[in-house]
Amino acid sequence: MTRLAVFNQKGGVGKTTTALNLGAALARRRRAPLFVDLDAQAHLSGILGPAPGSEESVFAFYSDGKPLGSVVRPVPFGAELVPAHAELMKVDSLFGKGPRILYRLREGLDALLAREPERSVLIDCCPILGVLALSGVFAADRVLVPVSADYLAVRGALALENTLKALEHVLKRRLERRYVLTRFDARRRMAHDIEAELRARFGAELCETRIAESVGLAESPFHKRDIFSHAPTSRGAQDYARLLDELLATGFIADAAPAAAVAPPPAGERPAVGGAA
Ligand SMILES: Nc1ncnc2c1ncn2[C@@H]1O[C@H](COP(=O)(O)OP(=O)(O)O)[C@@H](O)[C@H]1O
Ligand SMILES: [Mg+2]
Repeated sequence: MTRLAVFNQKGGVGKTTTALNLGAALARRRRAPLFVDLDAQAHLSGILGPAPGSEESVFAFYSDGKPLGSVVRPVPFGAELVPAHAELMKVDSLFGKGPRILYRLREGLDALLAREPERSVLIDCCPILGVLALSGVFAADRVLVPVSADYLAVRGALALENTLKALEHVLKRRLERRYVLTRFDARRRMAHDIEAELRARFGAELCETRIAESVGLAESPFHKRDIFSHAPTSRGAQDYARLLDELLATGFIADAAPAAAVAPPPAGERPAVGGAA
């Protein structure tokens, strides 16, 4: 099992697009993942299904102590989702920065997935570096950092490296990470310069696969679809399939059992939440 936080303190770099489409690629190749939407903007939740009330969202898990399993809902391509809600904006001010809140998601996932250790988890983090995003990183064993191929995003990625180092100090473990270039326009000289700069700085931690700027990836959220359902032969679908291949081949995403080989959880273990697609 791999618990992956898709993390970058900058917005608009492709975190949600990457979480969604990497998850969809995983569902085609291996076992469908569990998504956790930790962004108050709830973009991932909005693409994957109808908006939940706050009591049916991850906010209730943080605020009312509801078990994580009680807010899990089935979503397309066999995946499941812990949905977000706008109330998540309050988490920082309501619960402080103590270890209880920072480790809460980690503990919630441990309890939820005790019987499904091979299940992959993709956590779509919010761009504000507060308690919520940190609880996502603390819950993860690996971090995937999408970096869009523009000047400010690259400056942000360099700053982010310092943040991750500071977090490692607190966590007392190394945060395995990969950077992935998104919104790459090969016709632009700057995009190649940016790639060279990131390669020099991050070496093998920068994925070989680049996600190209593409119409399919821009349009698929509008149709509430992942790229494989929306445009299976598109450049975007090829890029995310390649990214998954690379992450599996390098062991960054652990090789989970194919869906057919996974035993279903015992009856009553998982709540049935409506809204299956
Ligand atoms: N490779 C891409 N090509 C075209 N549009 C993209 C690509 N990646 C992301 N987008 C679009 O850019 C916007 C921001 O992406 P998103 O994944 O929501 O970023 P974040 O979650 O980091 O804020 C969205 O409208 C998304 O559809
Ligand atoms: Mg997002």
